[in-house]
Amino acid sequence: MAFETILAETRGPVGLITLNRPKALNALSKQLIAELAEALTGFENDDAIGCIVITGSERAFAAGADIKEMKDKSFVEAFSQNFIGLNDWERVTLCRKPVIAAVAGYALGGGCELAMMCDFILAGDNARFGQPEITIGTIPGSGGTQRLTRFVGKSKAMEMCLTGRQMDAAEAERAGLVSRIIPVADLLEEALKVATQIATLSRPVVLMAKEAVNRAYETTLAEGVKFERRLFHSSFALEDQKEGMNAFAEKRPPNFKHR
Ligand code: HXC
Repeated sequence: MAFETILAETRGPVGLITLNRPKALNALSKQLIAELAEALTGFENDDAIGCIVITGSERAFAAGADIKEMKDKSFVEAFSQNFIGLNDWERVTLCRKPVIAAVAGYALGGGCELAMMCDFILAGDNARFGQPEITIGTIPGSGGTQRLTRFVGKSKAMEMCLTGRQMDAAEAERAGLVSRIIPVADLLEEALKVATQIATLSRPVVLMAKEAVNRAYETTLAEGVKFERRLFHSSFALEDQKEGMNAFAEKRPPNFKHR
């Protein structure tokens, strides 16, 4: 897939998307978001791909929506175009395959929001997360006030959204925003390793696990547990469940059919 603002390539069973506007610290222009959505759709439709990684450069995952592009927008344009809420922006949240954010450097504004839309974040040790919109006269527009609050709690999210203060990688890990910190030089390699590991598991079971975890954010505990139980039961209809458990009993690695 050939794009101008991102790179999209396959690494074995992994779809790798690299945000690639280095001069603008990967500011998320309309074109970049459209290309990202197209690349995600391509990987979603490609049966050979079992997991997707989104990354940026060592200096910036993304420094936010493109301020120069949006600064002169009128209220009427923003409102009637449903600016930011357009399908392309939310494409990553609609992916059924797992999407890992490998974040080095700045993940600010829309960059932080994009990372939070992914299934989990692996952070380089130089990563910085923030919602600085308040300092340029606006507020987060792609879920920042909602996802950050759910992920790190009200106090920290409120402080960050009210002041624009950035979190470094250590604070982000303590707060539960990122799953792990990795030396930045090893970040991509580690993200690809984890993604490859996921891609070799049973695809339908991976999709079930992702759906079940995500349900925790959308429903009550009792309903979520019931949803999980139904998916758990249905996994017993899969040949891959038989293969996985037989392989364990026979002390051999599983060879999943559906991946
Ligand atoms: C457009 C951007 C940009 C952005 C950086 N650049 N961030 N261009 N939109 N969000 C450009 C700069 O203009 C500059 O271009 C080049 O990238 C390098 O940036 P510098 O500022 O010179 O680098 P540095 O001094 O190292 O500072 C890095 C930085 C700073 C702290 C990340 O760039 C910064 O504060 N950026 C804006 C962060 C921000 O406010 N993000 C939120 C955006 S609002 P030139 O041409 O001068 O070299 C948002 C709303 C989301 O995201 C709504 C829903 C998606």
